[in-house]
Amino acid sequence: MRKIFILTLLFISTQVSSQQDISLPTAKFKTGDIPAWSQASFDDSQWPSIKTNTPWEQQGYADYNGFAWYRFHFKLPASLRDNSYWKDSLRIFLAKIDDVDEVFINGVKIGQKGSFPENSGGYSTAWNETREYHLSTKHPALQWDKDNVIAVRVYDGGGAGGIFSAIPFVNMMDLIDGVKMNLHIASTRDDKNTLTLVNNIQKKIYGKLSIVVTDPGTDTLITQSKKDVELVAGNNFSINIPVESSQRATISAVFREQQTGKSINTNQTLPYILTPPPPATPRINGAKVLGARPGSPIYYKIAATGEKPLHYTAENLPAELSLDRKTGIITGKLTERKDYHIKLVVINTKGNDKRDLTIKVGDVLALTPPMGWNSWNCWGLSVSDEKVKASAQALIDKGLIDHGWTFMNIDDGWEAEKRQPDNMIAANKKFPDMKGLGDWLHGNGLKFGIYSSPGPRTCGGYLGSYKNELNDAITYSNWGIDYLKYDWCSYGNIAGKDTSLAGYEKPYFVMRDALQKQPRDIVFSLCQYGMKDVWKWGPEVNGNLWRTTGDIEDTWQSLSNIGFHQTKQFAYAKPGRWNDPDMLIVGQVGWGENLHPTRLTPDEQYTHISLWCLLSAPLLIGCDISKMDDFTLNLLTNDEVIAVDQDPLGKQAQQIIATDNVQVWMKELEDGSKALGIFNLSGHDLSVSVNWNDLGLHANQKVHDLWRQKDLGSFKDSFSTKVASHGVTLVKVGG
Ligand code: GLA
Repeated sequence: MRKIFILTLLFISTQVSSQQDISLPTAKFKTGDIPAWSQASFDDSQWPSIKTNTPWEQQGYADYNGFAWYRFHFKLPASLRDNSYWKDSLRIFLAKIDDVDEVFINGVKIGQKGSFPENSGGYSTAWNETREYHLSTKHPALQWDKDNVIAVRVYDGGGAGGIFSAIPFVNMMDLIDGVKMNLHIASTRDDKNTLTLVNNIQKKIYGKLSIVVTDPGTDTLITQSKKDVELVAGNNFSINIPVESSQRATISAVFREQQTGKSINTNQTLPYILTPPPPATPRINGAKVLGARPGSPIYYKIAATGEKPLHYTAENLPAELSLDRKTGIITGKLTERKDYHIKLVVINTKGNDKRDLTIKVGDVLALTPPMGWNSWNCWGLSVSDEKVKASAQALIDKGLIDHGWTFMNIDDGWEAEKRQPDNMIAANKKFPDMKGLGDWLHGNGLKFGIYSSPGPRTCGGYLGSYKNELNDAITYSNWGIDYLKYDWCSYGNIAGKDTSLAGYEKPYFVMRDALQKQPRDIVFSLCQYGMKDVWKWGPEVNGNLWRTTGDIEDTWQSLSNIGFHQTKQFAYAKPGRWNDPDMLIVGQVGWGENLHPTRLTPDEQYTHISLWCLLSAPLLIGCDISKMDDFTLNLLTNDEVIAVDQDPLGKQAQQIIATDNVQVWMKELEDGSKALGIFNLSGHDLSVSVNWNDLGLHANQKVHDLWRQKDLGSFKDSFSTKVASHGVTLVKVGG
């Protein structure tokens, strides 16, 4: 392998586009909302500037929601129009806008995406849509060869606000816009990385395609190719780009159209698999400790990998419990409050494995963080019985169940519009038989979760439990529910001006009492985004887990803002009481009908899972498991990494080192060893060295790489590692 100058290639492509585009990296900016701000003649010289590729929260407007305006001033040279191939259509690209925008050029409205609160139908966000407005070059508002003003009225309905995700620009539509470049990333071993050029116009297009594959850590070339391409009208051109699945590699491709010299490009880092497959011999995984209330039905599926068929047995199994030797499901009821120590044994033709399971009969459930799936981050309100079953079946078929993934939780969107005459809640048409679904899940070794709000309405506008808490708890129990996520939402209207701690706790006490009356164990998940430091009082309302933040999105910004700020809750995590930084955002996500692959890079995904496991976070997969690719599956089935999350000691990692670029988090484990996450928050790979002394550890520590499941040796005073940009080195130290 030799070093190459990949930057040359990227430089040419940006250079070409910068000759053609009027780039708008900054704008004049003001919060508020005054109609005169749309006018070209308005004097904004006193307004501050703002960067246009980053939400305003990160630029001095923390927590600002509501209206604000961006104003761009630029000259529109007639040569831009005259030198372009088609000459008839101007493009105004405004990246993405959180949440709603209305765009004016020289005072004339040219477009809107999303809906403002004052619009008929009320507010609706379009945060995830790209804003690209096209205007005829003859549009009367355009001032050729003169100054122009684009004014953008923005409404932020919550969370991040403003223009983000790319730098806005103005340019002409050209021949190159007839070509689309798609890079399909191989999702399984049998699939191939394929780059496709699609000609969407009625004209033959010629050009040169350059593909460079490099190792982003070392900038070494893996392969490269150059090709003359003739794209017949309406036709495609495809090329495969083979790369080993364990290789960290970036594909950079540029197609330069011959006639105009304009180009399109793509640049993507491929997923790379670090973890070896589990051995053919049996290996027992999953929680080592189970909490149950006296007399509640016990339901525990032994999670184990190894060549099938597996035979499950147990030593010291209490007489009240029985074990299905074929499925590994333990059922029964224990009435005495005490710890039951059982030895699980799993056998196949290659060997056997034994492991302790402790069942603690008492008052506390979820003695390790719940693991499973939740419908929200993929299906949003479009969740249905079929979709739940498809992900459940895939969770079984793809073997996730063998690593301890257990709960199948339906989030918002299952509720019928009205209560039944006896005030009991019913499911809507998408869930024809809730009890049947519960039975099916239980029959397959899984657990069943559901969602509601203490308010009259859920966040998605569905029926909540207000004034019907006991009825709902009874219904859940009848359906076989094992887990309830209870989401504040419209309870804010009930609480009204009562901002006391007692006011925030109240609805959770009511549901706690209703759940406690049920003859089955229902894990209680509080969702109120961390208000009033919920981690301090969550145990009082018998919450097993509590959200510490607002909703997560599949971006580095969202992931890092949430994940790296879980510091003040550290001391409150313990068995049965977990801080919940929200659900996982790997795989195919979407919050609605249309799913997309997570926008996190592979290294950001390693960071996500590592950090969540260090934090002892509940692990709820938020993607369509039936479409899960090999990389995501590998990411979610590393038993050594999962064991960090499920460690029975139940401590949360502490942030030990935090500089601008590097953070080190350390978690104490039951066996006396530590799990250590060394994170690189910078935009480039880094070599990082940590001194045992700085971590409070003595000299000579054994280090084991958890993602690769490999011993790295003994290290005297310090440990050095190369950490990918936005990536992590996750190791176990000592032990
Ligand atoms: C809130 C919660 C999400 C999800 C939705 C459902 O936003 O934080 O996790 O449950 O409501 O409407």
